[in-house]
Amino acid sequence: MYKIAVIGGDGIGPEVVAEGLKVLEAATARTGVTYELEHYDLGGERYLRTGEALPEGMVDELRGFDAIFLGAVGHPEVAPGILEKGLLLRLRFELDQYINLRPVKLYPGVETPLAGKGPEDIDFVVVRENTEGLYSGMGGIQYKGTPQEVSTQIHMTTRFGAERAIRYAFELTRKRDREKKLTLCAKTNVLTFVHDTWWRAFNEVGEADYPDIERDYAHVDATSMWMIKNPEWFDVIVTENMFGDIITDMGAMIQGGLGVAAGGNINPDGVSMFEPIGGSAPKYAGQNVACPIAAISAGQMLMETLGEEETATRIESAVERALASGKIKSLAAGKMGMSTSEVGDLIAGYAGE
Ligand code: IPM
Ligand code: MN
Repeated sequence: MYKIAVIGGDGIGPEVVAEGLKVLEAATARTGVTYELEHYDLGGERYLRTGEALPEGMVDELRGFDAIFLGAVGHPEVAPGILEKGLLLRLRFELDQYINLRPVKLYPGVETPLAGKGPEDIDFVVVRENTEGLYSGMGGIQYKGTPQEVSTQIHMTTRFGAERAIRYAFELTRKRDREKKLTLCAKTNVLTFVHDTWWRAFNEVGEADYPDIERDYAHVDATSMWMIKNPEWFDVIVTENMFGDIITDMGAMIQGGLGVAAGGNINPDGVSMFEPIGGSAPKYAGQNVACPIAAISAGQMLMETLGEEETATRIESAVERALASGKIKSLAAGKMGMSTSEVGDLIAGYAGE
């Protein structure tokens, strides 16, 4: 019996997570996987009510779960950074979820903005380092509000942090068993300190332990270009935190939009957290119009990470069937021709067959 913590969070978060849970229930009813859910009321509303983004002791409580299912964090009435740093990043850091795993996969029946590209061309995974880089929180503002104002935001890289992300990516490339090609995305020509650490870690680890994996390198600007021009060149991409943030939004677009893009914040030795990467989309909140597929696929990733392959496969097949059915007109919020819960019902129906 797994214990899963559910944080619906802000905006469309609770609505899409509800559909993710609906599909999880339908799939596990067939596979026999059992779990209990505990719902946590965290997010912008709670912050506005109590002044706390993450109450004392909550992180330790969350350590007791097998996984966390997260909707979205972000509230229009809360200043930028408060919830992001106080809730989402705190969970990632304190639970040491050092991998942000973001598959970019175009399913048949889904439209991509890339002309002439199809599902056979767009199927790769981004392994984003999730605890360091520009997200470290190091730096500050001096002489604020004066003409002499100075601000720094330090790109913190440790060999340990880079290496563990790189090792995870090599293992994943081997496990995927496709092109067996791992691309390091960095900017070694400018970030000659932090990305030199990445570069050496990448080559040393690859040479010593992964001779079967082809090592490829692309600067982040070139990676952005190739993702649009030749996405079929990628199998697995490993990159630092900020670059990973940016290229995975682009990845989401080429796989059909934020409505289908799921991700996992993974601690391979601890508790991992799964989320649709699209955010809280406040303008669609409470209207039952947002696409729940990203959240449903986040549930699939959750099961996969727990080692429940059969349940994960069942969810993915159900998503694929729904997308190929032609019943969902578009994946954009408000344009699906169905409501959020109807899409959830459709996929849950397939998952339970
Ligand atoms: C994401 C988001 C977060 C990030 C924000 C909300 C802090 O954009 O999960 O990609 O930058 O990591
Ligand atoms: Mn992002």
